[in-house]
Amino acid sequence: MDDQDVFAAIGEEGFERLVAAFYRQVPHDDVLSRLYPQDDLAGAEHRLRDFLIFRFGGPPRYIEKRGHPRLRMRHAPFAVDSAARDHWLRAMNQAMEEAALPPEVKRVLSAYFESTAAAMINTG
Ligand code: HEM
Repeated sequence: MDDQDVFAAIGEEGFERLVAAFYRQVPHDDVLSRLYPQDDLAGAEHRLRDFLIFRFGGPPRYIEKRGHPRLRMRHAPFAVDSAARDHWLRAMNQAMEEAALPPEVKRVLSAYFESTAAAMINTG
């Protein structure tokens, strides 16, 4: 399966389940809860969901609302070290299990999350 086929496979609803399952964990995670804006978790959930939908073959709502992703730049205000990366990936892997995504979708998303999360590290 290619990246661009994921949206056709799981739809809006699949991404919604995935991202909701991720953000449900954020307030309970000792590292993530300190990084994410606790007063706008719903907004953060929308941004990640729209971004992933765009990135994996769905409608480009993220671009329309936020412009070019520039993910590394957008993460610059947050101190992302390797521990933060590990917590983020653990929460996302747990979310993929909860959302019960098809195995081939999980394979494609896991590879993307693994490499992109590493690229967000911006501090020792
Ligand atoms: C595959 C890896 C990742 C992707 C695709 C991703 C994607 C995104 C996107 C699209 C946004 C919203 C940007 C905007 O429009 O303003 C965002 C925000 C954010 N990300 Fe990530 N991110 C990743 C990894 C990480 C990691 C490893 C951390 C560290 C724990 C992190 C922490 C944050 C925080 C704190 C925000 C601000 C929340 C908000 O207000 O939107 N991200 N991320």
